Amino acid sequence: MNGNIAPRHFLSLLDLQPEELRALLRRAIELKSNQRELMLREPLKNRTLGMIFEKSSTRTRVSFETGMTQLGGHALFLSPRDTQLGRGETIEDSARVLSRMVDGIMIRTFEHEKLERFAACSSVPVINGLTDRLHPCQLLADMQTFFEHRGDIAGHRVTWIGDGNNMCHSYINAARLLDFELRIACPRGYEPDPTILDAAGNCCRIVHDPREASEGADLLVTDVWASMGQEQEQLQRRQDFEAYQVNDDLLALANQDALFMHCLPAHRGEEVSASVIDGHQSVVWDEAENRLHSQKALLELLMGG
Ligand code: CP
Ligand code: NVA
Repeated sequence: MNGNIAPRHFLSLLDLQPEELRALLRRAIELKSNQRELMLREPLKNRTLGMIFEKSSTRTRVSFETGMTQLGGHALFLSPRDTQLGRGETIEDSARVLSRMVDGIMIRTFEHEKLERFAACSSVPVINGLTDRLHPCQLLADMQTFFEHRGDIAGHRVTWIGDGNNMCHSYINAARLLDFELRIACPRGYEPDPTILDAAGNCCRIVHDPREASEGADLLVTDVWASMGQEQEQLQRRQDFEAYQVNDDLLALANQDALFMHCLPAHRGEEVSASVIDGHQSVVWDEAENRLHSQKALLELLMGG
């Protein structure tokens, strides 16, 4: 656990090369169909994943914990409320200590920079379980879901509707790695970080009008209007995003066989209508399930040694 070789982290999708990402997605699909066989093999037997959650979670916690169990290992849930992290022990010291004991660490926190500081002092792989800036694990599941339903996403058109937030940033990185076209429809003032957008080059484009952005899309994606930590902006955001609900009218502008995704949790009647999220083009339950399979592929890659 305190090896001399620098550990491999997953802080951003860009920590994977395009071919590695494609291989990981293939492996995730394989793991999904071989669950029973894999459980007998226990590739992470006796390994422990520490999971630090400074924000709430349903899917991320349950998928990592279940994934570790299915791989033969164990996961530890660590809340700042009950650890010394919440009483002022530094990020750096916490990273040094935890990584002497466990074999991998997943963190969900606020500032992305905090995750980077933690990773810099960790002697075991660190996984980004969501920061204010990025949510790369969700993209593994989203991409697996698209590949399962429609094949390789290269050359397809994806439309992001809503906030230029952590999910939107990770979609930009995914477009870069997997060669799809990304149109981003967001209200003015809620655009993604220009440094992330500019680094992606021509594959991503901001189109403020959600109707124009949806035309010809193979996948429509949205997310909550107020992310964790933005609760006090909720009322203002509800007004600013009013025209950005993914509903039947918007979906009708996309291609006939377009898919709908949402990382969840969702607010029906706000960013998405019930008719769309519960409709036949929605693949949100597959998308949620695939958190488990794609993260197992990730855990194997980083901790399988
Ligand atoms: N999509 C997602 O990350 O869900 P949780 O917040 O429930 O983990
Ligand atoms: N953008 C949302 C994603 C939740 C999984 C948030 O950060 O709260």
